[in-house]
Amino acid sequence: MKEETITNKLACPTDRRPFGQDDISGAEWQGSRIFKARLCCPDCQTAYPIQDGIAFLLPPHLSLHSLSEQTARDEDATGYEKTKAPYETKQERKALYQGVNFSSHTVVVDIGAGPGKRYTHDLAQRAGQVVAIDLSPEMLLLNATIAQTTLPPDVASRIDYVVADATALPLQPKKFDVALFAQVLEHLKPETHVACLTDIKNSLTPEGHLAMSVYNLKATGRDIRRHPADIFSLVIGTFPDEHRGNFRSGYHDLNGEKEKLYYYNFTSPELYQALCKAGFTVDRITGILSLPQQLPSILRAMLDPVLTNRIPTFACNRGQFLVAHATPSFTSIN
Ligand SMILES: C[S@@+](CC[C@H](N)C(=O)[O-])C[C@H]1O[C@@H](n2cnc3c(N)ncnc32)[C@H](O)[C@@H]1O
Ligand SMILES: [Zn+2]
Repeated sequence: MKEETITNKLACPTDRRPFGQDDISGAEWQGSRIFKARLCCPDCQTAYPIQDGIAFLLPPHLSLHSLSEQTARDEDATGYEKTKAPYETKQERKALYQGVNFSSHTVVVDIGAGPGKRYTHDLAQRAGQVVAIDLSPEMLLLNATIAQTTLPPDVASRIDYVVADATALPLQPKKFDVALFAQVLEHLKPETHVACLTDIKNSLTPEGHLAMSVYNLKATGRDIRRHPADIFSLVIGTFPDEHRGNFRSGYHDLNGEKEKLYYYNFTSPELYQALCKAGFTVDRITGILSLPQQLPSILRAMLDPVLTNRIPTFACNRGQFLVAHATPSFTSIN
């Protein structure tokens, strides 16, 4: 953990008081980085540890919802990567990066970073600094280990790790150029969505950019080869909800047992509304299509982007994910 990151980017999650140099005590250094220390907020007197170079900035009392997500993610850390399909990841990444300007000066916050193979490590190669945040310490330890073993040392050293809850983000205002928020908001309870997005908006510079993705309520896993008429009904928006795959909110049923991860699946108008309420100007929301795997991959790779860009209603009405790009407007509607 770089000292500059603590004093210039991070704040107490309880009252958002920015940390200063005097708030760090008992620091043990590893080269130029703090490996172990104690951070104490002078306003609320809450103490937060830095261990193994990771800052633990969780509010003193986590909500039961966050606790259960944290436990599930800690248990699942090593399994997570295996569940991600490379084709869909590529499509999602392309959509998330479209229109985002990266340079060696770009400061990124990757919220809900997970093990980092999809975004954190790639972001570190494009940007000057990345603050990777996750509720799960196991996810971040894995993220850091993979970074150290796969990235050149100067790239890995651009990443700082913070255990924090997206519903109490410990970020100083107007410090980040880009916020990457991939597949996280759907795991938060709906009543916290706008506040979380507002925190993200406040952490961005006035020219900052949010790129985010969520699960799409309107996703349909139906095989278009077997139901070709779906294309027409999806384009004109008359596809019946009972043929869609995603439920509104709750826990997946896995062989008769409830999975531990909570999902809230969004429609694109709903995501648009939440972003506007948080004070964002929404640049665009697109659906991430992935046509059925039975189609030749070359055909999928050709058709998916064309359909996504040319027929946005089709993509928003069918895609597995929704990707949103937004910038802070600094006038929040409530
Ligand atoms: C589906 S994974 C996405 C990981 C990564 N962004 C990616 O796209 O590969 C969701 C991540 O969000 C984290 N997460 C869930 N709820 C969170 C919360 N309240 N605060 C911070 N992170 C959270 C989980 O621990 C998990 O690592
Ligand atoms: Zn405080």
